[in-house]
Amino acid sequence: MSGVDGPLRVPKGLAGVSVTDTKISKSAADGTLIYRGYPIADLAAKASFEETAFLVVKGHLPAKGELREFEEGLRARSLVDRRVFEIMKGLGERAHPIDVIRTAVSALGSVDRETDMAGKEASIEAKMSVLAANSRRLPLGEGPRVSKSGLGFASDLLQMLTKQEASDFDRWVFERVLIFYMEHDMNASSFTVRVVASTLADPYAAASAGLASLKGPLHGGANEAAMEMLLEVKDPAKAKEFLDGTFREGRKLMGFGHRVYKAFDPRARLCKEYLKQMVEKRGEGAWLYDLCDAVEREMWERKKIPPNLDYYAAPIFYLLGIEVPLYTPIFAASRVFGWMAHYNEQVEENKLIRPDSVYVGPTGLKYVPPEDRRS
Ligand code: ACO
Repeated sequence: MSGVDGPLRVPKGLAGVSVTDTKISKSAADGTLIYRGYPIADLAAKASFEETAFLVVKGHLPAKGELREFEEGLRARSLVDRRVFEIMKGLGERAHPIDVIRTAVSALGSVDRETDMAGKEASIEAKMSVLAANSRRLPLGEGPRVSKSGLGFASDLLQMLTKQEASDFDRWVFERVLIFYMEHDMNASSFTVRVVASTLADPYAAASAGLASLKGPLHGGANEAAMEMLLEVKDPAKAKEFLDGTFREGRKLMGFGHRVYKAFDPRARLCKEYLKQMVEKRGEGAWLYDLCDAVEREMWERKKIPPNLDYYAAPIFYLLGIEVPLYTPIFAASRVFGWMAHYNEQVEENKLIRPDSVYVGPTGLKYVPPEDRRS
């Protein structure tokens, strides 16, 4: 929309601006979150990852036959082309796992044999968890881990990540965290995916752009940063001292704050409860729960800023024995379903996303040849 006085100006970071209509999900300041109309707590209590993924991508909860077909479609596409694994290997030990996955998804776009759009999207969804689980191993020169048949999506991803036997409860908790990571309306990476989709680029391009956006510590990278922070604090008694130092240096506390949730993040609340139950069932790890609680209380007392999902997902992953650099890749393995839902919704009612800007730089400058310029 343009007015006679120039383009419509919106707040920095598009805060509080609605950029599209969506039927996929909605988060609200009062701490509510729905996927396709269903409250997140209900889905977390009753639904499987695959049912929720179907819901997010297709728009309704699957009937039995639909669910079976969806699961089979994912399983059938989980095999990753050897050339993609070779590229991941070649990136070397210094490669960041999200960069590795992003490169792999780009490569997949060139080698994938899928011909129709639904097949391409299913292929990216199915392979993302395999790419995530191998995003560190392959560049380190270790052998690939592959999907095992007979396991659900979450248990399969967990076995690829850790190769350890996990209890039924641990696997159930991991699946809940994946459900929470799947979708969150107009978050930065989903918006990025929509921008790319609006140019009618293919879903591989959109997913690799989503990964680029997810990498940053203000978005997906926060779960790793939160865990590193917790391991640095170590002792609940040191929470106050740590926050003093953080704020003195003008730094943010990773895993806290949210553009939408100002009172509480419903996903973080549920994860805190799961963490407590995990610690109780194991009879160990109480230090980690106490530490999280102490930092949360201190932060609330000082700034009234609540923890977000990343803050409580991180200690759960830690107790599950997952290496910290794989936390953001896990986020990607789940969020890809949300990305593909946004891709489709954007393409279905497309309008190129191409905003305007207000130019505030100089005008009327005269060109000066290089030899006459002052440095
Ligand atoms: N630590 C310290 N102060 C904070 C934090 C934090 N984590 N988050 C917000 N604030 C403060 C800001 O400094 C700012 O203070 P000011 O008004 O005195 O300048 C005020 O709260 C508002 O913060 P903004 O950054 O403007 O809020 P915005 O809505 O833009 O940011 C964001 C949301 C980016 C998530 C922010 O809270 C943040 O940087 N958090 C840390 C990173 C993080 O955990 N990201 C994960 C997001 S959730 C997810 O991806 C699943």
